[in-house]
Amino acid sequence: MKVLITAGPTRERIDPVRYLTNDSSGKQGYAIAKSCVEKGWDVKLISGPVSIDIPNSVEFISVESAQQMYDACMNNIDVDIAICVAAVCDWRPKEVFNHKIKKTKEVEELQVSFIKNPDILHDISNHSNRPKLVVGFAAETENVIDNAKNKLINKGCDLIIANQVGISSSGFTSDNNKIHIVHKSGIESFPLMSKDSVANKVLSKVISIYS
Ligand code: CTP
Repeated sequence: MKVLITAGPTRERIDPVRYLTNDSSGKQGYAIAKSCVEKGWDVKLISGPVSIDIPNSVEFISVESAQQMYDACMNNIDVDIAICVAAVCDWRPKEVFNHKIKKTKEVEELQVSFIKNPDILHDISNHSNRPKLVVGFAAETENVIDNAKNKLINKGCDLIIANQVGISSSGFTSDNNKIHIVHKSGIESFPLMSKDSVANKVLSKVISIYS
């Protein structure tokens, strides 16, 4: 079984010393990569910048920006399963300065315009060479289930793993996660558990619907 996994945050440069990012630690994506390796699967892990160890036996592709993550995914689409765990920045600065932006006495307000990044999960789900099974995550601060249901439809994937972020006990930086697995025929909700346990639950579901 060949699996592609995206993990971690992306970094969108403003100038050589500044960037826009988010709180993703990469822990959940790396836990899933580790579980896939334990099953004997071939794993390509495409990761934004994180400070945790690379799991053994994965093919590791390091990226910084959403566009780089997108390109790496499209170049490695020939897999059976794609699991998009990365917290991809939806926007990037329209202009990237090649020098450090200086503060000036006269200017009290800095305006930065942003343009949309490509949606990796959407484009993998709708690719002519689509993996047989495509799984996405939904990082939500509110209306977790409704937003996840909408993502399942709008992105065109087979499963959405919804988790609440913006709280300390679960999600981005925590070692634990509380998830709901949303699919076309229903929702399964789980109690708070370790990210390793979440990885096993997700893979059990993946195996049960992969045919
Ligand atoms: N995703 C992606 N490429 C993007 C944005 C998101 O591949 N440019 C994927 C994430 O890896 C995740 C899913 O889409 O699997 C949902 O990501 P999330 O950040 O929850 O939602 P968004 O699509 O960014 O929408 P919103 O920020 O409005 O909730």
